[in-house]
Amino acid sequence: MIEVRELTKTFGKTIAVDRLSFTVRPGRVTGFLGPNGAGKSTTMRLMLGLERPTAGHALIDGRPYRETGEPLRRVGALLDASYVHRGRSAYHHLLWLARSNRIPSARVKAVLEMVGLEGVARARCRTFSLGMLQRLGIAAAFLGDPPVLLLDEPVNGLDPEGVLWLRTLLKGLAAEGRTVLVSSHLMSEMALTADHLVVIGRGRLLADVGMAEFIERSRATSLEEAFLRITADATEHRAQPEPGR
Ligand SMILES: Nc1ncnc2c1ncn2[C@@H]1O[C@H](COP(=O)(O)OP(=O)(O)OP(=O)(O)O)[C@@H](O)[C@H]1O
Ligand SMILES: [Mg+2]
Repeated sequence: MIEVRELTKTFGKTIAVDRLSFTVRPGRVTGFLGPNGAGKSTTMRLMLGLERPTAGHALIDGRPYRETGEPLRRVGALLDASYVHRGRSAYHHLLWLARSNRIPSARVKAVLEMVGLEGVARARCRTFSLGMLQRLGIAAAFLGDPPVLLLDEPVNGLDPEGVLWLRTLLKGLAAEGRTVLVSSHLMSEMALTADHLVVIGRGRLLADVGMAEFIERSRATSLEEAFLRITADATEHRAQPEPGR
């Protein structure tokens, strides 16, 4: 379980996360939605102790992430798939992570097979496509077989087979009782994957509700329509009114 309470993060004058409170429960896939710049990635970084909150807190299974022993066994995270040593092979990247987290090396082979990268495991990461890097990031998140997963836009760059694979995987992990928080801008895919939604705009909570109820509430026929309605006032990139009107 992930608990976010009154979480706030400012960067200079920018309020990236604004008194955000929500709980991510186990046993279901929770979609984390919001327009560009809404604060999703910052919230995830705060959950992982990569940023220090200005106020409030985020707890994972009752503790701040920093106080979690053997973090990769407790929480699997994919934030930025390009965050790998480009000169290393996929195999050595994962082996380094496994060794430094006291995870058996046999897991490396298992996760490489799981994400379909076993054939290119020895190639340097600099030769990887976006989708291959994304698969490697997902492999790293699963290395410690964690009960809690935080994935920031994991679908980006995946091919159709990869998208289907990830959807099936996330649903299966949730069904096993794990806690799964996944952000995405792909509404049609999210509609197929998530059971529950946390929607934010300008750092604030806009909705924390089941998928079906979210769509019904805004009298929409699709997740996309409901999302556009609820975030209409919270997008940073609205067109400016023309002068003289
Ligand atoms: N390190 C930083 N320094 C300054 N401002 C930052 C920093 N990180 C994020 N921000 C700002 O915080 C706000 C939230 O950004 P964040 O990346 O969390 O949004 P997001 O919801 O993940 O957006 P996207 O959908 O585009 O990934 C933005 O205004 C962004 O410019
Ligand atoms: Mg982001």
